[in-house]
Amino acid sequence: MKSILLKNSKPLGAIFTPLKWAKWALLETGTFQAWCDGASVLDPTAGNGAFLRAMLGLAKEQDVSVSASMLERLHGVEREAGFVEEFFTMVNADFGIDFPRENFICADILLSAPPVQADIIIGNPPWENYTNLPADYKNLVKPLFYEYGLVASAGDVLLGNSRADIAALIIAKTLVKNLLKGGQAHYFLPLSIFLNDGAHEQFRSYRLQNIDFAVQRIYDCNPHQIFDGIATRYGFASFQRDTAQQFPIPYFIAKDAGFTQQTAEPMYRNNAPLTVTKTTAEASSIQDFAKIPLPEKAKPRQGANTCGANDVFIFDNYEIDTENPAMVRVSNTSNAAFSLPKQFVYPLVAKVNFTETAPRPRKWILLPHNSRTGKPLTEAELQVHETLWQYLSLHKERLAARKGTLIQSLVAKGLWAALLGVGVYSFAPYKIFWEAFGQKTFTPLIFSTLEGQAWQGNQALHASICADSLEEAERICAALRHPNILTFLQSQRMDGTCNWAQPGRISKLLSFTSETESLFG
Ligand SMILES: C[S@@+](CC[C@H](N)C(=O)[O-])C[C@H]1O[C@@H](n2cnc3c(N)ncnc32)[C@H](O)[C@@H]1O
Repeated sequence: MKSILLKNSKPLGAIFTPLKWAKWALLETGTFQAWCDGASVLDPTAGNGAFLRAMLGLAKEQDVSVSASMLERLHGVEREAGFVEEFFTMVNADFGIDFPRENFICADILLSAPPVQADIIIGNPPWENYTNLPADYKNLVKPLFYEYGLVASAGDVLLGNSRADIAALIIAKTLVKNLLKGGQAHYFLPLSIFLNDGAHEQFRSYRLQNIDFAVQRIYDCNPHQIFDGIATRYGFASFQRDTAQQFPIPYFIAKDAGFTQQTAEPMYRNNAPLTVTKTTAEASSIQDFAKIPLPEKAKPRQGANTCGANDVFIFDNYEIDTENPAMVRVSNTSNAAFSLPKQFVYPLVAKVNFTETAPRPRKWILLPHNSRTGKPLTEAELQVHETLWQYLSLHKERLAARKGTLIQSLVAKGLWAALLGVGVYSFAPYKIFWEAFGQKTFTPLIFSTLEGQAWQGNQALHASICADSLEEAERICAALRHPNILTFLQSQRMDGTCNWAQPGRISKLLSFTSETESLFG
């Protein structure tokens, strides 16, 4: 059977499991023994059949003679006809076996596969964000995200904007439809399913279409250990159908040649991302950590976002005009020196500033916004400042063509010189900044205005909380430096990633209250 869907599409997530690791998975999960003892096994996205060939390889290594009924209990489904043929050729060449044709079929497990069911599922679904799927395939699988309860409400936007992974859908569908009652399933998968906010919360209800499934073990693999050159953080997890989820979940972290055991559980609510700690006592200390009360206005935020026009807004050189101190001369590799009103040019936080006692700016950012309201300046307001208007007019076409719904909604209102992530908070006299991206440590620092200009963060690299006075800033900074915050961040397993200490993650440890109940009450 040849899949009609594949005529014009490329293979989806075709990264095969090395035989060594397929064998590891079969032994670690007891799947090989269970198969020998009579269980049926299915790989629902089988590629060229690494798991089934590993099974036959283990049988050969262990002198187990493979009977016709054992072969009958092995099943594979794969949507690429070429991979299916490769499987038959390899099994024949390596083991001299004519594998039963009807047991390794070419079909799409989500759309067109016959209802194969097995005692055990083992495999490695494609890992791909829903948003990156080919448009026609997206339309075909979209209803399934709703059908399997992976997206809460049937709003396109919800799914379109989420980081939902096709792997979660394949796992959900196969757990519900292809696994026999009480069966076990094991998959290599992206760890975002367990560790990230947002997209996979519904999956983490641990119940799909009224069927309970329990995650029984998670292995957090070393990035280069199994699949070379893969940027996604991945692991291997075992599920048991028709069993209610229990916490903590044993969580194994790659260390040297093996794994060390830790423990994983959600914090505050059951479908929260898992928090991973060395001991359950450490988990309790995080669970019991009282959220830091802060006033509503102290919400953490990312830095200013030029929407792809850094060369227009960010400068490497800055010099106050000696003849007119209200003006500064700025330049960067794309723009020769240009005079701009000093009031619109702000120091931009850089990595090196976190190592300095008195931060000194290395870069500057132009914010053509009103520093009292935070709003972008209109054309009429820009024109009041001649050189500012001249400079921005040079780049008008480019700025108006920046991609993205949010920036385009401003462009439509004539605010083509705007940046995103700028508000009243951007101009506060004191800000507590921290590095939110790619770090392993958490050391918030206070940045006070420099020559009357507030420091700005650079998009997702930096997050900040604003404060009106130094005293307020010092109290917030001291509260943020509580050691439990670093313990919590480490437990989220996001060190070194873009998600390390982003505002949403830090906000989980803060509670926003009226001024009087806050830290300052
Ligand atoms: C990550 S590879 C893994 C293959 C094999 N399980 C292994 O571990 O080597 C994923 C495979 O799934 C196939 N695939 C992607 N979407 C599929 C679908 N909806 N139904 C069946 N196979 C699919 C791809 O063509 C690819 O061969």
